[in-house]
Amino acid sequence: MSGITLAAYLRDAQRAHGRLPDDLIQTLEITATTCERISAALQRGALAGILGMAGSENVQGEDQKKLDVIANDMLLDAHASGGHLAGMASEEMDDPFPIPDGVSRGRYLLLFDPLDGSSNIDINALTGTIFSVLATAPDADTTRVTPFLQPGTAQVAAGYAVYGPATQLVLTLGHGVDAFTLDPEQGAFILTSEGMRIPEATQEFAINMSNQRHWEAPVQRYVAELLAGKTGVRGKDFNMRWVAAMVADIHRILTRGGIFLYPLDSKTAAKGGKLRLMYEANPMAWLIEQAGGAASTGRERILDLAPSGLHQRVAVILGAREEVERVAGYHAS
Ligand code: F6P
Repeated sequence: MSGITLAAYLRDAQRAHGRLPDDLIQTLEITATTCERISAALQRGALAGILGMAGSENVQGEDQKKLDVIANDMLLDAHASGGHLAGMASEEMDDPFPIPDGVSRGRYLLLFDPLDGSSNIDINALTGTIFSVLATAPDADTTRVTPFLQPGTAQVAAGYAVYGPATQLVLTLGHGVDAFTLDPEQGAFILTSEGMRIPEATQEFAINMSNQRHWEAPVQRYVAELLAGKTGVRGKDFNMRWVAAMVADIHRILTRGGIFLYPLDSKTAAKGGKLRLMYEANPMAWLIEQAGGAASTGRERILDLAPSGLHQRVAVILGAREEVERVAGYHAS
């Protein structure tokens, strides 16, 4: 084990790359500390009476769990008064969260899904927190969505925490992807994996097969070929995994390879897809590209999309480069 804490890693990154302003370091350190607190809340779960529904809906019209709301409030509270952010936006809130009056403002915007895969909470399965950091002009009006609507290529940091048997934090600052594991005794994230790389080819895929009848033709073709296995055109067998928490599926792909698809289908086409661009697809797409993979809607590179709304949805196909390119090729033809 490296023994390098996240704090030391960020200082080293600043030395090596010379462009990690204090506000950005603070944004990442506070996010990590809050993920540690979210992880502790998840571990208490039923003991603290915080499982189950909150009795409210988020902007997507999805029922909120108590822990969705708790995780969201933890991130807002932790970041609101630090003076390092210009604004925040979350899956759980219709509008951007303004930095309170009287608090000094930094130049960063933090976008997050506070508890991804929250349907897993009550069954004691994997969940996570996804975050994306953008920069903005000091005088930007961050009560409005406009400053947030930047393409994924503009991200200055992105990552996620995955809450499983261990809590891990996976981060990119644009120089590869590194992973940290929470040491609960030290109360610190320790660097445990450097320069994560996704093999170009894979034999594992992740998709919600129950939507098969709703998919478009290119995805029907691709998955049919995977299912045909050794006797089909691919000439090899494929295995399938679906955790139903994007964080966990992407973590598996970054760790041992694979492809993840939440494609456009006839159920979600009118909304643009199922997953959200700004705080799910963009940070994950950047992590995947930084690890040597590819990320596409099937028609376009995710990171190049010009966002039109804070809660915009997109089709997501990402992971092993050869596989993503094959699916994109099927869309093109
Ligand atoms: O954020 C939405 C999400 O929970 C993702 O984390 C996950 O990949 C997906 O939805 C699961 O979707 P479904 O319920 O269709 O399996």
